[in-house]
Amino acid sequence: MDNRPIGILDSGLGGLTSVWELHRQLPQERVIYFGDTARTPYGSKSPETIVKFADQLVSKLISRDTKMIIIACNTITAWGLDKLREMHPEIPIIGVIGPMVRKVVGDGCSSVGVIATKGTIDSDMYGKSLRELKPDIKVYSRACPAIVPLIEEGLTDTDIMELTIKHYMDDFACTGEFDDLILGCTHYPLISKQIKKLYPNLKLYSSSAEVVQQAKEIMEAKDMLASGSDYTDRYYASDLSDNFVKMTEKLFEGTDFKVRLLKLEE
Ligand code: DGL
Repeated sequence: MDNRPIGILDSGLGGLTSVWELHRQLPQERVIYFGDTARTPYGSKSPETIVKFADQLVSKLISRDTKMIIIACNTITAWGLDKLREMHPEIPIIGVIGPMVRKVVGDGCSSVGVIATKGTIDSDMYGKSLRELKPDIKVYSRACPAIVPLIEEGLTDTDIMELTIKHYMDDFACTGEFDDLILGCTHYPLISKQIKKLYPNLKLYSSSAEVVQQAKEIMEAKDMLASGSDYTDRYYASDLSDNFVKMTEKLFEGTDFKVRLLKLEE
């Protein structure tokens, strides 16, 4: 039994989709969330920068006595998971791509689309990981770099968002080459309603449920599940822009959610 919190990180808002799922599946677990809003988006940055930034976030969370780290960001997972595990062998670190890939292959998909940030698509981590488990699977990928900044701006339910999705996806999603679409960015579940409306025939896959399931299995195996504690969840961001605060308040409406500033140089 281990009542210490789980550290969850992302470049901004996206990882909150994993926090909700964690609360749903494992309500006794507490979290410390850290979104690097001062430097979001990560998706178009170089692999070296992504790993350097992610290491700073992981170190901050480890210094706050977390028992496990969930990298709730595909871009960091794609470029940094192995390196972060090497840098921090003292703590279990899990990413979002492996659990998603196992789910898709387990469901018997033979042809899938992947939408993600430029960084994730350039890494081809989904293609490589899917083919490792199922060599004949067909994978179609599309980078959608402008979507994360729009979400961080709070523009989820707008015409601009719909046009942007169409800009990236119309000639991609309507070819009939795949019926299953991986939302390869943890921000995208926040616009799944809009994607479903535009492409109702696609089955959407997002990683939150699977990553939490993997976290649960690891904690069970290591006897690290929490039994309930007085500890409260804490949410940090490296910059508290008006937009970010407004957006998170909207997402957590009706709760006593509060996001605090955590400066990276502190
Ligand atoms: N949520 C991150 C991901 O899953 C977004 C990356 C970004 O900041 O561009 O890739």
